[in-house]
Amino acid sequence: MTRTDFEARAQELLPDYVRAYFHATAGSGASDAEGIGDWSAIRFRPYALRDVSTIDTTTSVLGTPVQTPILIAPMAQQTAAHTEGEIAMARAAAAVGTLLGVSTNAAVPFASIAAEGAPWWFQVYVARDHHLTELLAQRAVEQGASALILTVDMIALLPAAVNPRNWADVPGKARLSNLTPAELAAAGREGSAADASISFDTIGWLRDLSGLPVIVKGVLRGDDARCCVDSGASGIVVSTHGGRRLGPSISSARALPEVVEAVDGRAEIYADSGLRTGEHIAAALAMGARAVFLGRPLLWALSVEGSEGVRTALSELTAELALVMVQLGVSRLDALRPDLLASNGAAGRLERPEAG
Ligand code: FNR
Repeated sequence: MTRTDFEARAQELLPDYVRAYFHATAGSGASDAEGIGDWSAIRFRPYALRDVSTIDTTTSVLGTPVQTPILIAPMAQQTAAHTEGEIAMARAAAAVGTLLGVSTNAAVPFASIAAEGAPWWFQVYVARDHHLTELLAQRAVEQGASALILTVDMIALLPAAVNPRNWADVPGKARLSNLTPAELAAAGREGSAADASISFDTIGWLRDLSGLPVIVKGVLRGDDARCCVDSGASGIVVSTHGGRRLGPSISSARALPEVVEAVDGRAEIYADSGLRTGEHIAAALAMGARAVFLGRPLLWALSVEGSEGVRTALSELTAELALVMVQLGVSRLDALRPDLLASNGAAGRLERPEAG
């Protein structure tokens, strides 16, 4: 099976409640569909007569070397896709030489994920009871997480019916598995809910309590990105949460240039949401992203073939990216520059010809 078969096959395999949660979007779903469409609308100005006899897809993210700029987005409820959940994701990440985000709502212990040997970043939803967040961050540090991803676009507005928090006791249901039942009971249902009062100060708080770099996920504006960096963020993920945050939202492809310009090299920028092909990934990198995160395509792969499926999806996409690099006339990721973008695509106004 190839990566493009996984989505259709997963629809046949997954129970209704899982399928509904994985597909869920905010509002009408327009921002999800448009998000994918805006990456597809980008047009390139390929180079001629460049040496593309060897293609190098390696890079580093916050100092961690990776074989591919395709990172695994943090996603909850992976045991509903496959019994091994994040363990299978981590094994695939180790096999292809990439990095994974591990959700606050991870379904399996950090130690089992870490044992697979892939680098990983812990994704934080700040709980109303901050002690829960402190415990999780400390445990992630102990198990070798090398950064925190602070997700700031809350998805509280997903329809209650699809939220796993409200699932009955169904197979695969598992949230906040790195807290003990006693800790969760002490905090209560309210205490473990997301804190809607977080602010730019939360970035420094997390950095100080963990000693790790903090990446802010869910930024769609240049001014916000600049404030995040001024507040101590080392990275920014431009993301609509896969169209799950706000129905009529600007897409990541349209927001990315503004964020790149505002951050001006002071932090790494990653693109997320709606990336589906090697061409999309090349476009995001040309616009200034250092790497990209993929969500649902890897969930479908996990659902159908577990770790092997995710490995297949990541390997095929990396090969696709390498082919697009040949077609564009670039042999290294750092040669994917804004001057490769045409002015009539979704990202048209981004064209910033290089000097000289
Ligand atoms: C997510 N996402 C997510 N993000 C996060 O920061 N913490 C989380 O726990 C989750 N959980 C989650 C569950 C499911 C089922 C999905 C589909 C997504 C968002 C995820 O990290 C990423 O931003 C999007 O999935 C990227 O969009 P695509 O690739 O799915 O279009």
